[in-house]
Amino acid sequence: MYNSHRLTRRDILRFFGRVAGAGTAVGVLPGFATTLTNIDVGADIPHIKPMTRDDLVLADGLNYRVLVWWGQQINSSGEKFGFNNDYTAFLPFDGRPDEGLLWVNHEELVQGYFDTPADPRSKSLHDVHMEMKEVGGSILHVKKSGGCWHVLQDDRYNRRIDANTEIPFVSARPILGRRSATGTFANCAGGVTPWRTVLSCEENYHFFTGEVALGPGSRRFVKKGLLGWERYLDLPPEHYGWVVEVDPFTGAARKLTALGRYAHESATVVAAADGRCAVYSGDDRSGECIYKFIAARPGSLEQGTLYVADTDNGRWLPLAMGMDSRFNKRFTDQTDLLIRTREAAHIAGGTPQDRPEDIEYDPNTAAVYISLTKNQRQGRPYGSILRIKERDNDPLALEFTARNFISGGTEAGIACPDNLVFDPRGNLWVANDISSFELNHFPYAGFANNGLFFIPMSGAAAGQVFQVASAPVGAELTGPTFSADGRTLFLSVQHPGENSRDLDHLTSHWPGGGNTRPRPCVVTLTGPFLDRYSSV
Ligand code: FEO
Ligand code: CA
Ligand code: CA
Repeated sequence: MYNSHRLTRRDILRFFGRVAGAGTAVGVLPGFATTLTNIDVGADIPHIKPMTRDDLVLADGLNYRVLVWWGQQINSSGEKFGFNNDYTAFLPFDGRPDEGLLWVNHEELVQGYFDTPADPRSKSLHDVHMEMKEVGGSILHVKKSGGCWHVLQDDRYNRRIDANTEIPFVSARPILGRRSATGTFANCAGGVTPWRTVLSCEENYHFFTGEVALGPGSRRFVKKGLLGWERYLDLPPEHYGWVVEVDPFTGAARKLTALGRYAHESATVVAAADGRCAVYSGDDRSGECIYKFIAARPGSLEQGTLYVADTDNGRWLPLAMGMDSRFNKRFTDQTDLLIRTREAAHIAGGTPQDRPEDIEYDPNTAAVYISLTKNQRQGRPYGSILRIKERDNDPLALEFTARNFISGGTEAGIACPDNLVFDPRGNLWVANDISSFELNHFPYAGFANNGLFFIPMSGAAAGQVFQVASAPVGAELTGPTFSADGRTLFLSVQHPGENSRDLDHLTSHWPGGGNTRPRPCVVTLTGPFLDRYSSV
């Protein structure tokens, strides 16, 4: 029988520390052009080979510590760190690199992990209420002391936002008669605004709410979700799939409808010269699109224009009533169009993509990098990274050029790119996400477990792909965020053991080891590797 031992701090401490590996697999990107940053990065970069070990294995010069783990109590109200931590955002206090607030998304539930029944038909209302507390996001006050990062326990900033939190819409009118939604969930990646709020993206909301469709005569009906929540809750799918703006200093949250509604993966903010912001986001579904929102005024994302990318012709196409007569025939008003963003995008001529995942902006080159994780049906199982350059490097431009930056595969040494981050020295870090049920199977066998990859963007090794971390079995590494000085990388280890048949047949026991239940955690990576290659 499964041992339900809960991790104590001492259990966690036992598993601190680096496990170094060595290997020879280094991918080279065909056609890579050396970019603008002036960094002397040699070719002797430590790296590891792909492996199947149930551990977080790091290249030489990197160390990790578990910062916070699923189920850890974070405040005196008894709130706990949620499940399946994903995107992280670090907001330093007063520019101090060693203390601030950490926002963490909590994404999907994995049935069978919980003390609630895996079969949705067997769930009680109490079970559903338990699950509602696992998702959304966490706000944590974190500080580096004695060389290590810690969560300040019972701090006034520490709080949860979950599927119970009432969150108002920023919208021209109510949505299905309501001005607010019950909760947020499926929070995948995100972004940070110049005014120090966090954007948290609702991605696969349909697992929780089902999906709405229009039948004959525009009759609305909802196809059931996976979790069985609809037996007890009235959660219209139209209330989810938005970008949620959170002020981590107050806990206030609101859903920004002007940015559209779809399986939002990320929301990457770039400020233009006049102070207005562009927000790049992707719809992580096969054949769906890349979007850019341009705010109407500085300091706010409440109003503006949403565009979809035509990457074949290098144009941003507006999704606004009045801009296309076909919109006026299909949608009742702009709010209706935004609720049905996908339909509008395809009417406008948005280019179908291979599942857009994370997006990052390179401040050194003003290029935007977009992970297109894979498209097996089209014969692209390893995915790619697309690079967009706006006209005149202006984030408000409506024309751009697009070219492939990486094709995933054995030559590059990476498959299914997902999360991206630039370090303060301008190097690109990529976490990949081969689905846990496809890990170590054709066509992914050679890639072993998911990992984290380092790509120098200048110097002798520019464009080479170095694997620097290997995730525990079944996990993906997500939400990478650098501290401002580049000496710490906050990193989520999400869904270790997700490919387990049940709790009696676990594929991972990370981080506790032995016979313990696997636990998603946020870890901090530090060490000479970051001091040498990433810090400023
Ligand atoms: Fe939540 Fe598309 O990854
Ligand atoms: Ca992702
Ligand atoms: Ca993913």
